[in-house]
Amino acid sequence: MLPIDPLQSEHRMIERMLGLLSEELSTMKKLKRVNLNLLEAAVDFFRFYADRCHHGKEEFILFRKLEKKDLTPELQKIMEELVDNHVKTREWIDNLQSITRRYAKGEKGAIRELQQLLEDMTVNAPKHMEKEEKRLFAPAMQYLSQEEKDSLVRDEYELDRTLIHEKYKLIIEKLEKAPGEATQKTKIIESGR
Ligand SMILES: [Fe+2]
Ligand SMILES: [Fe+2]
Repeated sequence: MLPIDPLQSEHRMIERMLGLLSEELSTMKKLKRVNLNLLEAAVDFFRFYADRCHHGKEEFILFRKLEKKDLTPELQKIMEELVDNHVKTREWIDNLQSITRRYAKGEKGAIRELQQLLEDMTVNAPKHMEKEEKRLFAPAMQYLSQEEKDSLVRDEYELDRTLIHEKYKLIIEKLEKAPGEATQKTKIIESGR
């Protein structure tokens, strides 16, 4: 097992969510309606799975280790670009949540903003994952000893193990502060930040 194996499996899951969003985008354009349940689930998925769990493994485990290595300037640059893309993804997630809420409250014009956002996400996220897999993951493995690879895999498992507890602890804390508000689905989704 290599530390990039879980990352690549997670990419396949993210692709499945992006596939659902692509279908939703076509339906939105055709029928001029929004599947709010899907978009709320997508916010939760991108916030916890794609960002906390997957980007967490990339930025705080793999990239952090690679930063200590004498990488080529090209690999260094690719890694910096990938981190910038993650910042952009966090903006997408926040925007997806806020625009979806505005639409749910009756702002029908928000559908155009949702279409633009989904277009951007579904076109650019696959490019990001392809860049990671083709231009960073494989070459990066050459900089790591077997011991270091094993240690990174253990760190990845540890992140997975703690994440669900972190998520539901945040939900409970939010509910304890404002039970009425937090019982709304959107509030539960928001509690991850
Ligand atoms: Fe990434
Ligand atoms: Fe990734």
